Amino acid sequence: MYNPGSKQHKKWLASSGKFRLFSTEEMQRREAGRREERIKASDRARRHPLLSLEGLPAGNLEHTNGLFVLQPNLSKGRRPVYKHQHQDMYLFFAASMSKWYIGKETSMRAGKASGWLMVNSQAMTADQIQAQWKVYDPALSKSWTSSPAVQISDVKWSLPRLPRFFFAPNIAEIDVHETLVSHVRDFYEAHVLPAIHDESTEIKSKSTQAGEIPLSFYRQFAGGKFRSDIKWVFPADYFAYTSLVSFLGEMNTTKFLREFVDLDPDQGELQVYIPSFVVRVQVNKRYYHMDWPKEGGSNGLTLMLPLYDMEDQENGCHLLYKDLEGNERVYKYQLGKAVIFGGGLIHSSQPCEARSIAEHNRPWAFLCYNFGTNKMKHWKTIGPQMECSGKFVVLPNGTVQNTSSCSNAHKELEKG
Ligand SMILES: [Fe+2]
Repeated sequence: MYNPGSKQHKKWLASSGKFRLFSTEEMQRREAGRREERIKASDRARRHPLLSLEGLPAGNLEHTNGLFVLQPNLSKGRRPVYKHQHQDMYLFFAASMSKWYIGKETSMRAGKASGWLMVNSQAMTADQIQAQWKVYDPALSKSWTSSPAVQISDVKWSLPRLPRFFFAPNIAEIDVHETLVSHVRDFYEAHVLPAIHDESTEIKSKSTQAGEIPLSFYRQFAGGKFRSDIKWVFPADYFAYTSLVSFLGEMNTTKFLREFVDLDPDQGELQVYIPSFVVRVQVNKRYYHMDWPKEGGSNGLTLMLPLYDMEDQENGCHLLYKDLEGNERVYKYQLGKAVIFGGGLIHSSQPCEARSIAEHNRPWAFLCYNFGTNKMKHWKTIGPQMECSGKFVVLPNGTVQNTSSCSNAHKELEKG
């Protein structure tokens, strides 16, 4: 202890006012608050995993414009970290200066306040940054320059990038109750399977019970570029359409997808444009394609629900897709799980062939939905690839559009 009135004592008195001592309860309360803040930030980041950096002036910094992807296993200053999609560049929070930076991996790992871009913001996730960014360009000014045009913004309408899908764009999986799967399978086996190998493109199901209305389906073959025996079975009348759509209502997809799809709540929920059964057992070659354009985000989606257990299909007939690095990955279909994917997912059926007569007679079948937003404004982006499928397409606003003028496109598809 210092002698009262001494120089050291006066110094100690002057400095002690700057500090507050907290009780253990207060410290625990603050720690719990910080933990909650961190959990909220990582939850928000998971929902907004893809950010776009735009507005950098032309010059030697232009290469940093582009997409930043959430790094789920990294955090700095209790905030999530993002990495440039193609370059070794990180978007991170440097707690020492309470600023966000875009800089090298070494700076990010050390939490060092260093980089090419900086913003004075304590936002918990980068998509919430409102303040103006500053750019450091040694070739131009050798100082930090305010750059009002620079913006980090959320790339809207994207399914979360999940580590188990190697951060591939717009792919997710949901659980579907086994009772519902067997219900769909019973429906398929009663109405579609008996005629699946017939020559005709029209399938008229037989009534299974007295008084039941027979349903009509339209079967579209694909040969050509799909190099497979794939058949799409679309509803050909409104009863068949509503029967297929009713299964989606039982899947709880809306609850999961609501935050990723641009929905007008006054217009109801997700709109099914085209429901179908996809049936195949023979795929000779990969045919990589996108069902939906990248710009469509997750406003146009495909859902595939396998109706049979494909567990013993070790290496065939599953779903191939490309991850963000362009590597081929296999998604194995599982009974009780539906895979959902949207714009930008490059995928193909995995090559395979029937291993027995029984497998040929009862090929792998999936309930499939092309569905998504109920806002018409997105249709010009997501619609063109859908407009020639099946007998009719139901548009985002619920109106039915006949596809009869697309009969040539059907023939083209079949020829390849
Ligand atoms: Fe596809």
